[in-house]
Parts: sequence; structure tokens; C-alpha cells
Amino acid sequence: MPIKISLSLLISLGLVLLTGCSSPEEDSVSTASSAYNTELDMTEIMSLVLEPASDILWSSGGWVLDASGYEELYPTTDDGWAYVRSQAAIVVESGNMLALPGRAEDNDAWMIYSQGLSEAGVLAMEAAAAQDQEAFFQAGAQLYSVCTACHQAYNPDILNRFDEAAD
Ligand code: HEC
Repeated sequence: MPIKISLSLLISLGLVLLTGCSSPEEDSVSTASSAYNTELDMTEIMSLVLEPASDILWSSGGWVLDASGYEELYPTTDDGWAYVRSQAAIVVESGNMLALPGRAEDNDAWMIYSQGLSEAGVLAMEAAAAQDQEAFFQAGAQLYSVCTACHQAYNPDILNRFDEAAD
């Protein structure tokens, strides 16, 4: 069996440190939801927008050792880093999508997790721009902790399904 030390593996083993969200609380007032198209429900945003982008980030961090030898999972070309940077941008904007009136479940912890998502995405974008493997790995771990924290708070049932999906 190949040895694989990647974010995906750490996530499936539950070994990624949960750092939590420490964003300051902000009391922004929601505006009328009619101004936004919120037709995509939470399941669609998660499985069609956020998860595909996050999976690419997680599978682009770490290394694999198998029969064919040692292999870095990190991008090795400028184009490769540019691609993961663009996926990180989707994560940044997903934080805003979740915070839209009509989507946000409250004006409290939900907003903090949504901001935490964007912040982790920004860190991943910066790491990708700098082609900094260590910072990119850390950003992926922080991202995972935000996903898990919000699921624990708002939909504990999702936790198992999500862990299986990350495998
Ligand atoms: C602000 C809160 C919040 C954040 C942050 C969040 N989620 Fe979710 N997620 C939810 C909620 C709520 C559901 C349940 C949706 C439902 O079933 O109605 C969910 C469901 C899911 C599902 C299951 C979708 C399905 O098919 O039923 C996946 C997969 C998922 N999230 C992935 C992620 C990933 C990956 C991240 C981080 C990159 C993330 N989520 C971050 C709130 C969040």
C-alpha cells in the first residue's frame, strides 16, 4: 500500500489540527434578499462550487511515496500554481456566497465561519502566488478546520459524509 502524506489523508484520518475561527464578530445588517439570486441551495453550493475547489487545494498539498518512488503533490510549474490559486479564489468568494442574505442562517457564528472560509482562501492564494509549499499546506489545514467547525455547528450529520467524501 502506498504511503501518502497529503492533506487528503490527514483529513480522512482526522489529524488536521482544528484551529477554530478567531475572526472578530461583526454586526452587519442583512439587506433585502431579492437583490441576489440565491436559487442554488446550500447542498448545491457545497457540492458543486466549494467542495470541488477545496478538493483541488487539498490534493495539491503534501507528497506520496509508492512503488514508483517519492512524488510531490505540490504544483511544479507556474501554470500549476496559477491553477490552484484560481481554485483558492473560488473559496474566497464562496465565503461571500454563504454570507448572502437568503443563505446565511444567522447573523452571528455563520458569518464568522463564512469570513473564516474567505480568509483561509486568501492565505491559500497568497501561498500559491509565492509558490510556498509550507504556507500552502497550512492554508489547506486552516480551510479544513473552517469546514468542519461550521458543519459541527449547523449540521453535525454532515460530518461523517464529508469525511468519507474527502477520502
Ligand atoms: C458557513 C457554514 C459552512 C461552511 C464554512 C462550510 N459548510 Fe459545507 N455545509 C454547510 C451546511 C449547513 C450543510 C448542509 C446543507 C444541507 O444539507 O442542507 C453543508 C453540507 C456540505 C456537504 C454535503 C453536501 C451534500 O451533498 O449533502 C459538503 C460535501 C460540504 N458541506 C463541503 C464543505 C467544504 C469542503 C467546506 C470547506 C471548504 C464547507 N463545506 C464549509 C455549511 C457550511
